[in-house]
Amino acid sequence: MHVIVGGGVVGLSVAWRLARSGLPVAVVDPAPASGATHAAAGMLAPVSEVTFTEEPLLRLGAASLARWPAFAAELTADAGLGPGALDYRTDGTLDVAFGADDLAVLEETAGFMEKLGLRVERLSGRECRRLEPMLAPSVRGGLLAPDDAWVDPRRVASALLAALERLGVPIVRARVRELLRGDEGVQGVRLRPGDADGGPSPADGGPFPEELLAERVVLAAGAWSGALAQVPVRPVKGQILRLRSPQPLLGRCVRGTVHGQPVYLVPRGDGELVVGATQEELGFDTRVTAGGVYELLRDARELVPGVTELELAEVVAGLRPGTPDNLPLVGPGGERGLLVATGHHRGGVLLAPLTAAVLMGEEGELASLCSPGRFAP
Ligand code: GLY
Repeated sequence: MHVIVGGGVVGLSVAWRLARSGLPVAVVDPAPASGATHAAAGMLAPVSEVTFTEEPLLRLGAASLARWPAFAAELTADAGLGPGALDYRTDGTLDVAFGADDLAVLEETAGFMEKLGLRVERLSGRECRRLEPMLAPSVRGGLLAPDDAWVDPRRVASALLAALERLGVPIVRARVRELLRGDEGVQGVRLRPGDADGGPSPADGGPFPEELLAERVVLAAGAWSGALAQVPVRPVKGQILRLRSPQPLLGRCVRGTVHGQPVYLVPRGDGELVVGATQEELGFDTRVTAGGVYELLRDARELVPGVTELELAEVVAGLRPGTPDNLPLVGPGGERGLLVATGHHRGGVLLAPLTAAVLMGEEGELASLCSPGRFAP
């Protein structure tokens, strides 16, 4: 039996791929898909999220993006859903610039991407507005990454839960108190009921056993993973807004840098527009703040002035699991019986298909980039 600790998009994807290959699996989470997955915008954008120091992350992201079409098709089929159920879109990302400095940065980024063999198109301000008529008149130019995509993470999580149910995988709605360790290494998990910090009471999800024995435990608990094993993961808070309009305001993801801060807008087919996201190092703080909302709206309005007309439907904060080098931790966890799948920071949704493939032994060279062993003492 594989026990997956954590029912976010990463843990559920790993559980689904393992169960699909015929292995017995159980998932443990007090409230599946309620953490970073619930907050995430769902950009599948390795190209436009890349920075000059992050070539390994770009390689992982590009490999996972290539897996997304098959992942989405198989998931919708396994969940018994129709095409379009995940709101999976492949219309690219437009990164826009306002001033000469921004344009110079975009030009440098374009050169770097081309060196890596990635497709990008340089656009004038007018060409940007022809693609996205709601853009601000002050946009001077942009870079289109036509191969970037996006998806609705909440729909992905629901589909994964449905697919797991159809495969008969139990979802145990409990917290993990600790990993069970013996002479043979990690042998399972010890469970505990929910507690004051937001978990459900046993009555919500119980009854559940006190212990679950496992041949392998997969630690996929996101920002909380460090409480159970030696993994260098820290919470990076992101506040994110959901705006609503009768018609979609944009045809593709739009991003830019305003007041030195990156801001992105992700449109959904039903008229929702996701605006994200702050990056705050405040420990396990998930309060939404007036300042967070103000800054996101202020910056989004610079890109697309019409956002202020939209209904403010939701503000949510999630905790990304950050690592010292921004690369995920996927693979053997340094103890017999323990695998880890965590530390995905800003890329959990994008990297979920690749993460499952790495744990299934389908990726050789890329697996070494995200091996947790790189932080072994
Ligand atoms: N992937 C975007 C973010 O984490 O804000």
